Amino acid sequence: MPLFGVPKEVTVGTAMLGVAFATGVLAGKRYPSLVLGTPKSSIIDESSPLQQYILDHSLREHPVLKKLRLLTADHPRSKMMVSCDQAQLMANLIKLIKAKKVIEIGVFTGYNTLNMALVLPDNGKVIACDINEDYTKIGKPLWKEAGIEHKIDLRIKPAIHTLDELLASGEAETFDFAFIDADKESYNEYYEKCLHLIKKGGIIAIDNVLWKGEVLKPRRDDLETQGIHHLNEKLLRDARINISMLPMGDGLTLAFKL
Ligand SMILES: C[S@@+](CC[C@H](N)C(=O)[O-])C[C@H]1O[C@@H](n2cnc3c(N)ncnc32)[C@H](O)[C@@H]1O
Repeated sequence: MPLFGVPKEVTVGTAMLGVAFATGVLAGKRYPSLVLGTPKSSIIDESSPLQQYILDHSLREHPVLKKLRLLTADHPRSKMMVSCDQAQLMANLIKLIKAKKVIEIGVFTGYNTLNMALVLPDNGKVIACDINEDYTKIGKPLWKEAGIEHKIDLRIKPAIHTLDELLASGEAETFDFAFIDADKESYNEYYEKCLHLIKKGGIIAIDNVLWKGEVLKPRRDDLETQGIHHLNEKLLRDARINISMLPMGDGLTLAFKL
């Protein structure tokens, strides 16, 4: 649920910019969403010229991904969408480790599901977990348009159930990559189950680990921030993994299974 990248934040700050984007006036190389980004939604000042420069000089977005991003920008909960730069990093990692089986916990409109499926081999698989079919059906036609629908196994039920089913069916240590981006209170459980499901050398990416800065002072009654903060503290000392915590979007931790 990061924000930005381009998209999350593309939140259509103004109708004018939205129209310009939709009509392609601004949809060239630049990513106006950055300019529109709501600072509160990210730890990074997305409106800074340097941030815009980074995006202008690093993002390469597949045309169908771009279409889904723009479609998602019209959704009232568009800020939940993964950021484009995070998505691109995950795609690069998936290619680097030659991943075949990946898990996504929290699909929303399916931007990152599509992003990952695009770089998997033809016999690759994304197990995509969400509880809200209204969200996922927004992206489904675009998965088809991109020709990668056959790589996506969408499971509409609480992600914990799906992870338990995978473990029960003997799929422990068969996955290469997992992305955790759903309800924050369950982050620790998702992490533990994903760690069982991925192989040695596999990667778990965890989104929103900085939670708009809330992790600096987690309130006791704020279960979301507590969930993230406790996992951050645990990962620092977890001998089963190596980690990197990146100030990208709303914060992205990469856990590399040893
Ligand atoms: C931040 S969004 C995911 C964004 C997505 N990764 C993307 O690429 O844009 C979080 C999603 O988690 C889903 N979710 C919330 N609780 C869940 C649960 N217990 N099990 C599965 N999905 C859940 C929500 O329905 C929502 O679609």
